[in-house]
Amino acid sequence: MKKHPVIVLPLCISLLTLSGIAGAGDAAAGKAVYDGKGACASCHGATGAGDGAAAAALDPKPANFAAGAFRLDTDGDGKTGTDADIGNVIRNGAAKFGGNVAMPARADFSDDEVASLIAYIHSLKK
Ligand code: HEC
Repeated sequence: MKKHPVIVLPLCISLLTLSGIAGAGDAAAGKAVYDGKGACASCHGATGAGDGAAAAALDPKPANFAAGAFRLDTDGDGKTGTDADIGNVIRNGAAKFGGNVAMPARADFSDDEVASLIAYIHSLKK
């Protein structure tokens, strides 16, 4: 039987997306890093409200992603919380940009992991 390209192409694309091969910026993959090896939830909280177990002792507090409250402008474009700002803070930590030294640098994360974390952080906004 002859395969119909109009059906086969979208099927391939959705399978790629589901399998994570085209998964840059995938919020579900970001959640896995956030809750897992990133340990982001321990400070930023399970729902991103900045209320993780370690948050009470910290000042400035971990960013509240649920409120979309960002304060670090890492690239001097006059805006906070852009994809570039979030990526810069994840890779370099906050201290480099005048923020809390408690926010750790994760230079070990791949570009995909950083992109997925950015997508997940945006998705946490209520
Ligand atoms: C040990 C606690 C801790 C952990 C773990 C942690 N953070 Fe943070 N994070 C902070 C604190 C504290 C700040 C606030 C820095 C500031 O405003 O000076 C912060 C700030 C940020 C910001 C900047 C927000 C802004 O205001 O512009 C981002 C983005 C961020 N964290 C993402 C993450 C991600 C993603 C992870 C996991 C890979 C993570 N953090 C893990 C404590 C933590």
